Amino acid sequence: APGAQRFIPPDADTIDELRAASGGCQGCELYRDATQTVFGRGDESARVVLVGEQPGDMEDQKGLPFVGPAGRLLRKAVDDAGLDPAQIYLTNAVKHFRFELRGKRRIHQTPDRVHITACRPWLVAEFARLDPEIVVVLGATAAKALLGPTFRVTKQRGELLPWPASAQHPEDFTEVPVDSAGTVTDAPEARLLATIHPSAVLRADDQDKAYEGLVADLTVAARALS
Ligand code: URA
Ligand code: SF4
Repeated sequence: APGAQRFIPPDADTIDELRAASGGCQGCELYRDATQTVFGRGDESARVVLVGEQPGDMEDQKGLPFVGPAGRLLRKAVDDAGLDPAQIYLTNAVKHFRFELRGKRRIHQTPDRVHITACRPWLVAEFARLDPEIVVVLGATAAKALLGPTFRVTKQRGELLPWPASAQHPEDFTEVPVDSAGTVTDAPEARLLATIHPSAVLRADDQDKAYEGLVADLTVAARALS
């Protein structure tokens, strides 16, 4: 896939300009079957940036991230963790809904590495215009997009890690450098925290326990804000 880069106006100063341009992205094949691009939303000066996987069925229809069941759960968890929703910017690693048709139902499909790679320029462009104190990585897809394939959310969830200076500079950003243990190795600019995806809570055998775990991780982020 050629990727999203050529659809990003280099002179876009704001997230709103990026969002407008993202509507025309054809950086991978996902734009064909999805309804629309679902870009990030929230305050550009947000202290916390949350990165999910991709829009779901509801998000695809509404054009807004985290407005379906997983989003509802996430917003409740953010609230229970004591994070101010006004201080949060929400986005996804992949900006179009990937699904498989079964009859009339659209069944979520996890994005592949090609989609993550194709779409990453949008994420990088967003970060170049944001200045968070904490980046929260929700689940494996966001971790792959930002941290590369060696990072294991299950091993390092809930830990405050350095968010490297290189992550703020898209021109030399490929993915955040991690060592073999999945620890971020670049000089810290801000902090990063990985946790499970809210959809994983909805799928868990013990939903209450999974939810408590998500809230506990987000509470670490809330307490780390100065
Ligand atoms: N799941 C995500 O990762 N993002 C959304 O926007 C909705 C569901
Ligand atoms: Fe472009 Fe990303 Fe949509 Fe692919 S998923 S078409 S790269 S916005």
